Amino acid sequence: MEDVQARHANPLVVDAGSGNAYLGFVVYELFLKDAGGGELLSIEGRPELTERAKGRAERLHFDRMRFQTAHIDQAEYPERIHVLMALHACDTATDDALVAAIKHGADHVAVVPCCQAEVAAQLKEKKAKPAGSMSLLFQHPWHRREFGSHLTNVIRALTLEAFGYQVTVTELTGWEHSLKNELILGRRVHRDNRRARLQLQALLAETGVQPRLTRLLGITPAGAAAGGAEPDAEPTPDAAPAPDATPASPPEP
Ligand SMILES: C[S@@+](CC[C@H](N)C(=O)[O-])C[C@H]1O[C@@H](n2cnc3c(N)ncnc32)[C@H](O)[C@@H]1O
Repeated sequence: MEDVQARHANPLVVDAGSGNAYLGFVVYELFLKDAGGGELLSIEGRPELTERAKGRAERLHFDRMRFQTAHIDQAEYPERIHVLMALHACDTATDDALVAAIKHGADHVAVVPCCQAEVAAQLKEKKAKPAGSMSLLFQHPWHRREFGSHLTNVIRALTLEAFGYQVTVTELTGWEHSLKNELILGRRVHRDNRRARLQLQALLAETGVQPRLTRLLGITPAGAAAGGAEPDAEPTPDAAPAPDATPASPPEP
């Protein structure tokens, strides 16, 4: 928040899958209320939650909080998002949030994924089974769920890197508070990263999975047709280029 507020007079913060918008209220209170500029847009699929949060924002006079009842992948976003956050957006809703961030050039992304079932189901399919002893990692349903969830988040982090984000994966809070505790932070420093994209494509090919995130972004497994890496580009002024990245300018404010 401090970074985008230093660089943009009116940063747009999106909270995807906002529920009661508690996270949005905290961010607004801490960063936007007294800033004189900037908006927070909460996207939530359940209308009763949107209405309740809207009423609360009115009572608090949080005038630059906006609410939209919509599915994350169908919501109407302004052209430019500066920060996107998604706290426990269910299953593939986290993927939809990441797609919105990438497509709208978000400077910063912070997601804490929720439970994840899609990749575990793909691992169960014969065609998704990697060769060799790797499949032993997820023979049992319990392992498949855990491994599927882990693989999903590895792919999410790598996808962000492929689109030029510098990624940090860490824990959100103490384990006693939440088991859904993996915080994936991304800061956009390049337009794309060729090495990360190739690694991602190799991982998709080796594991045989194709999660929603990579499908929506058109990233194909290595060896498949289309979806090749973008050409190299120029570095951003504010970031040292990573040795294997293909740096480029971030989107316009
Ligand atoms: C576990 S709650 C988390 C709510 C909030 N982010 C928080 O941490 O308090 C997940 C919320 O995401 C919403 N949601 C799930 N999938 C969604 C989607 N595809 N589009 C919009 N909202 C979605 C649910 O309705 C629910 O309110």
